[in-house]
Amino acid sequence: MKLVGLLILAYLLGAIPNGVWIGKFFFKTDIRQAGSGNIGTTNTYRVLGPYAGTTVMVLDIAKGTVATLLPTWFHVTTGLGTATPLLFGLFAILGHTVSVFDHFKGGKAVATSAGMLLAYNPIMFVIAAGLWVSLIYWTSMVSLASMVAFSLVTVISLFFRDPYLTGIAVVLTIFVFYRHRTNITRIRQGTESLVPFGRGYRR
Ligand code: G3P
Repeated sequence: MKLVGLLILAYLLGAIPNGVWIGKFFFKTDIRQAGSGNIGTTNTYRVLGPYAGTTVMVLDIAKGTVATLLPTWFHVTTGLGTATPLLFGLFAILGHTVSVFDHFKGGKAVATSAGMLLAYNPIMFVIAAGLWVSLIYWTSMVSLASMVAFSLVTVISLFFRDPYLTGIAVVLTIFVFYRHRTNITRIRQGTESLVPFGRGYRR
């Protein structure tokens, strides 16, 4: 019973649509109706500016981290052993993408997945964050940077010799590509929006 309750809590944490709520409460703006329509960091930054974007990034990472740490904090185990935190992280990612607070829609799972990584393997998180920022600098496209960073995390995870880490990296990479289908179309057409940062940005 405790396990089920905590998994529901992980889902509900992930389901908190930080971008939507911050946009509505502080800016009277529905970010789902502006920019790319996504509820994540990038579109919040695009529509509402750097402070709102950074806040959403921190909160979206935090909900993935907190959900992943729940089984440790509450001493819950499953038959999955050391992979139990990843199960909780996946419930948060499910909440973020199929949110009960957002008509069962949601975001692209980048920041919440990163939050899970932070709780499960902080070194891998730091590497992933470094890659992500570097890729944004080189391309000025957050979507492309996100997809490539997850792909590289999958490869780099092999060095940690943790099959659970590599397994979750493969699953997340496939999922992140799937959630970025419209971005992939825009990248192929040369119409993907750029962030005003790095070498790819044409002023
Ligand atoms: O985190 C989502 C990002 O990779 C792309 O966001 O708004 O450009 O579709 P967006």
